[in-house]
Amino acid sequence: VIDFLAAKCLAGRRVLLTAGPTFEAIDPVRGITNLSSGRMGYAIARAARQAGAEVTLVSGPVALAAPLGVERIMVRSALDMHGVVMARAAASDIFIGVAAVADYRVANAAEHKLKKDHGGVPAIELVENPDILAEVAAMPGAPFCVGFAAESRNLEEYAQAKRQKKKIPLIAGNLIQDGFGGDDNRLVLFDDHGSHPLAPASKDVLARQLIEHIARLTGNL
Ligand code: CTP
Ligand code: CA
Repeated sequence: VIDFLAAKCLAGRRVLLTAGPTFEAIDPVRGITNLSSGRMGYAIARAARQAGAEVTLVSGPVALAAPLGVERIMVRSALDMHGVVMARAAASDIFIGVAAVADYRVANAAEHKLKKDHGGVPAIELVENPDILAEVAAMPGAPFCVGFAAESRNLEEYAQAKRQKKKIPLIAGNLIQDGFGGDDNRLVLFDDHGSHPLAPASKDVLARQLIEHIARLTGNL
């Protein structure tokens, strides 16, 4: 890894990221969410900042402090996250989608708390959320887009398929059993040149390697 503090390979670049889970309300006290600590996304935001970038982090509900020098915008649902990202994407040079966005939200969310004695087991109807990353990648003048694929199996196949479907130049894949909730992770980067497995390391070290890889692909290094 290059010397981050010295190289400032993203100086003057604007980096927009999503991190953490989203929360989709069922009623005022219940919801559907994904398992995500936000640690990988926050580490990448920190690394981008250390590389000299101007960083905006759009974060779902997590128990983490905002990284120093990073503008953090807290959101709850995928639709909230979508709105904040779409308002800022055009002004960004690089977009990194690290969030575990809920694929579906509740179509019939209740205004008041559901009660057990009101008509039996509730039927929860789901509708699909917008794909934030794919939408940013499809914008005219889109920023350089980076995705994440957390898979439980077939990492290479699924990650490559996502990269192609979302039409993004770079995706970072990891197996759920390697990274979830902890300080360490194991990442494989997939780009036009093939796959680049990174040695297992802390999320901070991997974040710097990912930022370095992005800086190279975008001609900033
Ligand atoms: N993503 C997004 N908006 C969504 C869903 C996913 O921006 N509504 C982004 C994630 O932040 C991640 C990438 O897309 O960078 C891949 O997310 P993932 O859930 O692995 O892919 P999906 O396309 O949703 O496919 P599936 O869940 O079926 O594996
Ligand atoms: Ca998904």
